[in-house]
Amino acid sequence: MIEYINVHKAFDVPVLTGVDLTVETGETLSIVGPSGTGKSVLLKTTNGLLVPDIGDVRVDGESVYFDGDAALEHVRQKVGYVFQYAALFDSMTVCENICTGLPQGVDIRSQKVLAKVAEALEDVNLDPAQVMNKLPSELSGGMRKRVGLARAIVSRPEILLYDEPVTGLDPVNTAAVSRLIRDIRDKNRVTSIIVTHDIEQALEISDRVALLEHGVLRFVGRPAEFKASADPVVRAFADRRMAAEAAIRIMEEDAEDMKKDMEEQP
Ligand SMILES: Nc1ncnc2c1ncn2[C@@H]1O[C@H](COP(=O)(O)OP(=O)(O)OP(=O)(O)O)[C@@H](O)[C@H]1O
Ligand SMILES: [Mg+2]
Repeated sequence: MIEYINVHKAFDVPVLTGVDLTVETGETLSIVGPSGTGKSVLLKTTNGLLVPDIGDVRVDGESVYFDGDAALEHVRQKVGYVFQYAALFDSMTVCENICTGLPQGVDIRSQKVLAKVAEALEDVNLDPAQVMNKLPSELSGGMRKRVGLARAIVSRPEILLYDEPVTGLDPVNTAAVSRLIRDIRDKNRVTSIIVTHDIEQALEISDRVALLEHGVLRFVGRPAEFKASADPVVRAFADRRMAAEAAIRIMEEDAEDMKKDMEEQP
């Protein structure tokens, strides 16, 4: 179980201003909301990537912030994180990148580890023989995204946090990733939080949907309640107006990101 308790976070301006949310073990919850509203920031407070200014996050009863380093480490071992922008290490091969998702100190040349990496790649619809030894710069944006996903699942974590797992993927891979998220959840009773602009995916895959707006959760409820809500902001998302806007912005940023990566290559 993941509990966000009165989470506040400000940078130059307030971003999160009191988020309260409980995600049950085995539950799949999607978070939607306008661009820049703090969805990624909220996700990052789950395993200590960002520290709230006020409030707490508890994972299976352990505080990520107040129970010391051992508790944080414990939480980190349980959590797989899919970053919004693949965030791969440019100078490492795909195999090496995926191994960063395994506990420190594993021998990445051992057959057992290589088999785990290959299995994770197959899960995300990539051919291990083809991509294992490539550098991220040799892959397309969609492939890099799936390598990021493979890294998150390779240790078979109990909790998976997905930040925009399908943005920029073609329909075939979008469907494959949705299926994968569901399979992972069903097989191991994984707790999943999915930040997504893809309302269709959110409604189809989730037990509950949360809408983050102006620093707080404006709506939390079942997909059917989301679809039936009379709240105008929920309506805008349910009718896919705002989601489409957010998607376009994120895809533009993805393209910008890739261009930068390419410019940085020698
Ligand atoms: N590390 C950081 N340092 C400073 N400001 C940050 C940092 N991370 C996020 N922000 C700011 O916090 C706000 C919320 O950012 P966040 O990335 O969570 O938005 P988001 O809801 O995920 O948006 P999108 O849908 O575009 O991904 C933005 O104004 C962003 O600039
Ligand atoms: Mg984001």
